[in-house]
Amino acid sequence: GFSWKLADHPKLPKGKTIAMIVLDGWGEANPDQYNCIHVAQTPTMDSLKEGAPEKWRLVRAHGKAVGLPTEDDMGNSEVGHNALGAGRIYAQGAKLVDLALESGKIYDGEGFKYIKECFNIGTLHLIGLLSDGGVHSRLDQLQLLLKGASERGAKRIRVHILTDGRDVLDGSSVGFVETLEEDLKALRAKGIDAQIASGGGRMYVTMDRYENDWSVVKRGWDAQVLGEAPYKFKSAIEAVTTLRAEPKANDQYLPPFVIVDDSGKPVGPIVDGDSVVTINFRADRMTMLAKALEYEDFDKFDRVRVPKIKYAGMLQYDGELKLPNKYLVSPPEIERTSGEYLVHNGVRTFACRVNSKHLIFCRVLPNNHLLFNSETVKFGHVTFFWNGNRSGYFKEEMEEYVEIPSDSGITFNVQPKMKALEIGEKARDAILSRKFDQVRVNIPNSDMVGHTGDIDATVVACKAADEAVKMILDAIEQVGGIYVVTADHGNAEDMVKRNKKGEPLLDKAGKIQILTSHTLQPVPIAIGGPGLTPGVRFRNDVPEGGLANVAATVMNLHGYEAPSDYETTLIEVADN
Ligand code: 3PG
Ligand code: CO
Repeated sequence: GFSWKLADHPKLPKGKTIAMIVLDGWGEANPDQYNCIHVAQTPTMDSLKEGAPEKWRLVRAHGKAVGLPTEDDMGNSEVGHNALGAGRIYAQGAKLVDLALESGKIYDGEGFKYIKECFNIGTLHLIGLLSDGGVHSRLDQLQLLLKGASERGAKRIRVHILTDGRDVLDGSSVGFVETLEEDLKALRAKGIDAQIASGGGRMYVTMDRYENDWSVVKRGWDAQVLGEAPYKFKSAIEAVTTLRAEPKANDQYLPPFVIVDDSGKPVGPIVDGDSVVTINFRADRMTMLAKALEYEDFDKFDRVRVPKIKYAGMLQYDGELKLPNKYLVSPPEIERTSGEYLVHNGVRTFACRVNSKHLIFCRVLPNNHLLFNSETVKFGHVTFFWNGNRSGYFKEEMEEYVEIPSDSGITFNVQPKMKALEIGEKARDAILSRKFDQVRVNIPNSDMVGHTGDIDATVVACKAADEAVKMILDAIEQVGGIYVVTADHGNAEDMVKRNKKGEPLLDKAGKIQILTSHTLQPVPIAIGGPGLTPGVRFRNDVPEGGLANVAATVMNLHGYEAPSDYETTLIEVADN
């Protein structure tokens, strides 16, 4: 039968303290002025690179290597951490929705049948991120769903859009709205009453995560459900172009608006008898709205009116909470992750990260008292994504989650150092305590500040991240441990949109276009430390290696062979 027991590695010892450091949004790209990692002083990461090719190499962090549909799909934190933790490549939400739409199976599922019940009497509402970023949602999937639903009887459809500018260029919202409007017009020509009903920028309306700021979700609720917003427009194009000009909001932060008819009445509040689908496949930024839509008992904000609706998610966002209860496509089933194996083999783990919003999560043994414990979340990136989208503990007696509130209410270009120092200190202390075999951290600066598009601030962010790495490596030096330093996807290494030749792309006014999104770049991985057995080096026969190869590598460094179905290890032990 199945056993969690891992075979001993024939050459590598157990019991070394391993620091597993993930730099968020830290890719490798040509050195130029738009490469903030290159521009920043990063002596620690630079010195690791000198270990190439035996102790430093690049791994793939985008596209098929992390379970995304195509090689044009940039990496992201969800799929990156999934791959790092699971050691295998799973078809991810984006891909699963593509397949379900392509085969038409999405329309045969329980979720679609459920929302279809309203088609005769009510309105079908689609809420989600409007872009082709492919991180949380995709426009072409929305287009197919609109077509499919209307062909299957939806007579009245309202779309509630969230503008992006984070996974795609700022300003691109206008084009996406135009495309959507064309589609809706075509539906109207077929006699279907289809319109955009409300909108707002993703970072200001609806798409908060980890229960950091419920007012974001409330703003969306007021517009989508109640039909109330500070701004009212006759069309979404007008809304987006006007709000970008005055109050000069960018796509990420557009204020909420509703579309009204000639008499000034909102065209699409959500009412009893309607159906709602949240079209994002990625969970973290849809979970809060899902709770507001689904839970009878709900006290995060005053919903004022709670319509009796049939609600389904594009995917189920939380398998533990069964949230939402109904969904159009089943999420990837990520099983037997490396964290679970290691816990079952007695490896003691400490994990700490700033969540990509405002919190630091730490995972510690119960006897290791950290003083910080605040309300908010039950799960976070480091555990949830790393452990295969699982918010619970593997072995509760060995694990504890602790979280520290970070700077809130700001965009991170204002505070680019974020909590890097604090993460470094926590990790250092955990290492020096010698209570842990693995100390796992995520350092978010290059990603979170990179997303703001502020190049100068991103340079500061990269330097701060490098300093945190140094603190951790110094501690590893002291205890005779091993380090593994890598990243989940690229971001700060390229801050400009480029043409096919790789040259910065200029807009009509001749200005460069800032890239706020992640990239397609590979990420570095470095190994080292005094505890590393002599002769351990990167193999040269895994040139296509990606993030999913890291789990087996780390298991080896803990003294174990990886399970046979894991992606192969990146290391070998040379005979000296
Ligand atoms: C976000 O949700 O902030 C971005 O869309 C993706 O960033 P992340 O994958 O690094 O969280
Ligand atoms: Co990011």
